[in-house]
Amino acid sequence: MSHQALGQAFLGTLVHTPSRDQVECIHSALVLVDPVGAITAVLRPGDDGYSDNLEAHAQNSTLIRTPDGNFILPGLVDLHVHAPQWPQLGQALDVPLEVWLQKHTFPLEARYSDIAFARKSYEALVDTLVANGTTTAMYFATIHLPASQLLAEICLAKGQRALVGRVAMDDQRECPDFYRDASAEIATDETRAYIEFVRTLPGNESGRVMPVVTPRFIPACSDQLLENLGVVAREFECHVQTHCSESDWEHNFVLDRCGQSDTAALDGFGLLSRRTVLAHGNFLSDDDLARIASKGSAVAHCPLSNIYFSDAVFPLARALQKNVNVGLGTDISGGPSPSIFDNARQALHGGRFLETGVHSDISRSHRGRGDSRISPVTAFWLATAGGGSALDLPIGQFQTGFQFDAIILDPSAPGSNLLISGDEDPVTLVQKIIYAASRSNVSQTWIGGQLVFASRSLHSRAH
Ligand code: GUN
Ligand code: FE
Repeated sequence: MSHQALGQAFLGTLVHTPSRDQVECIHSALVLVDPVGAITAVLRPGDDGYSDNLEAHAQNSTLIRTPDGNFILPGLVDLHVHAPQWPQLGQALDVPLEVWLQKHTFPLEARYSDIAFARKSYEALVDTLVANGTTTAMYFATIHLPASQLLAEICLAKGQRALVGRVAMDDQRECPDFYRDASAEIATDETRAYIEFVRTLPGNESGRVMPVVTPRFIPACSDQLLENLGVVAREFECHVQTHCSESDWEHNFVLDRCGQSDTAALDGFGLLSRRTVLAHGNFLSDDDLARIASKGSAVAHCPLSNIYFSDAVFPLARALQKNVNVGLGTDISGGPSPSIFDNARQALHGGRFLETGVHSDISRSHRGRGDSRISPVTAFWLATAGGGSALDLPIGQFQTGFQFDAIILDPSAPGSNLLISGDEDPVTLVQKIIYAASRSNVSQTWIGGQLVFASRSLHSRAH
């Protein structure tokens, strides 16, 4: 068999969550990956073809053997990143959302009219995310067409699976003169041009980088623009991303202006589909959740950002119970960490705080909202398979037909906080990973069968 036809095979201990309360751990798993990065088989020792494939790939130098004690995990999925906000990570988290946007964020984003500034910032961000194990990211760029195109090109060049949107925002009252689309028509035309650019980008034939229709949020957009973008999203069968019912201020602003919730208004503008991701959603009512579930849309749960800007904890367990698609988002720089592991931990903490309540003056029986916790296994699922299914993409777990997007996790890497004895049952193993894994443990990042990041080379490769 030719080198090309054989593809590659990965050998090691595989850990993933095929459903939100199920862990699968396969020792000495052999994952066969075709030349375009799709998984063609996940084999266990003793399965038909296991020995033959192992031998064939070893002889062909297409076997990637992961070191003993390491784990092959699905790559992490970040559903909500503001790429231009990277320079202010960890800054200005002491003011409310509406002040933060006007005083800090819009002035920073306006600087992306400078393409050299954009290049430096975007390259550093994508490198950081990939080193943290984020194999897929859904990005807001800025209103600038050239810098938004550049972000798509940088993701493609670095091999990250990415969904990138040119931000649309034309409302004269809520957006400053120095950072606003001049009209709904211009924002719409540039959105179309941007989608066509990404879809025809040389080297992007497999669609690793996808365009996203991106109305910033209802307060920043005129009705006309929201309506236009609903049409564009349908016409191009494109993903959509926006903010939804994030804080008291934002939620009430939309109720005042539209006479209905963000979710109902977005639906009216034709912006809710199976490819829509709504960031935050802290104030979603049961009706909103039912509407989102019926449309197959998703929520990007951004638990670290929500501490600072939401005024409330997202009812994650309730959303999952109502079959809403949910994954995690860092919300850089509303959230101060680029790590999905950090956000998965905070999703656990937030659920516990919501369940018990936090105000000790209030009696224990009235302090919290029952049944709000999630398990560490669900946190792992949100970070991987949940994120993949929120995007309606075949990523986040190791199944035939899914893309081989993976991280090699090394518990004994320098700087590791993770102590694995090797005797853990699969659920305990996932608990330990979710509570203690960090960037230092990500020794390699693979996307679509390609190595895109290595902190150091694997010890043993078969030749
Ligand atoms: N709402 C509108 N824009 C933003 C943003 O950049 N970050 C967050 N967290 N919320 C927003
Ligand atoms: Fe955001």
